[in-house]
Amino acid sequence: MKLVHTIDDLHAETAAWRAAGDSIALVPTMGNLHEGHLSLVSLAADNAERVIVSVFVNPTQFRPSEDYEAYPRTLDVDAQQLERIGADILFAPSVEEMYPGDIEGATQVRVPDISEKLCGASRPGHFDGVTSIVNRLINICQPSVAVFGQKDYQQFVILRRMVEDLHLPLQLIAGPIERDEHGLALSSRNRYLNQDQHLTAAVIYQSLRAVSTMLEEGNRDYTALENSAAEQITAAGLKPDYVVVREAGDLSVPEKSSTHLVVLAAALLGDVRLIDNLLVELPA
Ligand code: PAJ
Repeated sequence: MKLVHTIDDLHAETAAWRAAGDSIALVPTMGNLHEGHLSLVSLAADNAERVIVSVFVNPTQFRPSEDYEAYPRTLDVDAQQLERIGADILFAPSVEEMYPGDIEGATQVRVPDISEKLCGASRPGHFDGVTSIVNRLINICQPSVAVFGQKDYQQFVILRRMVEDLHLPLQLIAGPIERDEHGLALSSRNRYLNQDQHLTAAVIYQSLRAVSTMLEEGNRDYTALENSAAEQITAAGLKPDYVVVREAGDLSVPEKSSTHLVVLAAALLGDVRLIDNLLVELPA
C-alpha cells in the first residue's frame, strides 16, 4: 500500500491504473479506523480493482464548539490496518492540500432541506462540510464507486442526492453497520466512553430494535413508537436528540402505508453524541 499526502502524488499512482483500465473504489474516512471502516474497505475491494481510502479530519464539517482539535488522529495505526486488509492507496492530505485558499471563502456544495433536518438541525452547516469535502475527494480520485456506511444514514441519503443532482459519474454503495457485542454501533467517538458507558449506550440500539419489532407487528402509530423509544433512552441516562421513523428513501415523514422505513436516533451520553439507525422493510 502507498501512503500519499498530495494530489499530485495520488495522480501519479492512479495514472497507471487508469492506463490499465482498472476501476477504482473510494472509501472516505476521518481515520481512527475500526472494524466498521474496514468492512467498507472490503466491500470496496469487492466492487473495484483498486481501492483508495482517504483519511482526512475535515475542519468544515465541525462546528466551532465540536471536537475538531480533539478528534483522534492515529495515522500510523490506520496505515497498518489498511496495509493488512489490502487497500492500494491511503490518501492522507493536509488541510492546505484540500482547501488551498482561505477556508471561509472556499466553494461549498450544499444539498438544501435534507441537510437541515435531524442531525443537521443540531449541527447546522455540518452536512455542507461533508458534501463539500466528499465532492472534492470524488473529483480528485475519480472513482467509479464510493463506499459509505449505513451508520451515518442521513449522510448517505444526502450524498446520494448530491451525486444525482451534480451528475457525478459514480455509483454509491452503503455498507451495513458494524456493532460491538452489546449492539452499540462502532464509532471513533466511542473511545470517549468508559466501560460502563459502552454498556449504557447500547440502549440506543435496543430502543431501535423495539420500534422495529412493533412496526413489524403492525403498529403504525409512529409518534407513540418514537416517544416510547425516547423514554427508554432517557430512562437509561442518555439525552435523546431525536428518535424518528422516516421513509428510508428520502427521510420524509412516512405514510401509514409506507413499507421502506428507517428508524433513526441520536442521543447524548455525557458530552458524546451517538447516532444509530435500523432499516425496516414491511410487507406491502
Ligand atoms: P467517518 O466518521 O470516519 O466514517 C467514515 C465512513 O465509515 C462513513 O461512511 C461512515 O458511515 C462509516 N462508518 C462509521 N461507523 C461505521 C460502522 N459502525 N459500521 C459501518 N460503517 C461505519 O463519515 C465520515 O467519516 C465523514 O463525514 C466523511 C464521509 C469521511 C467526510 O469527511
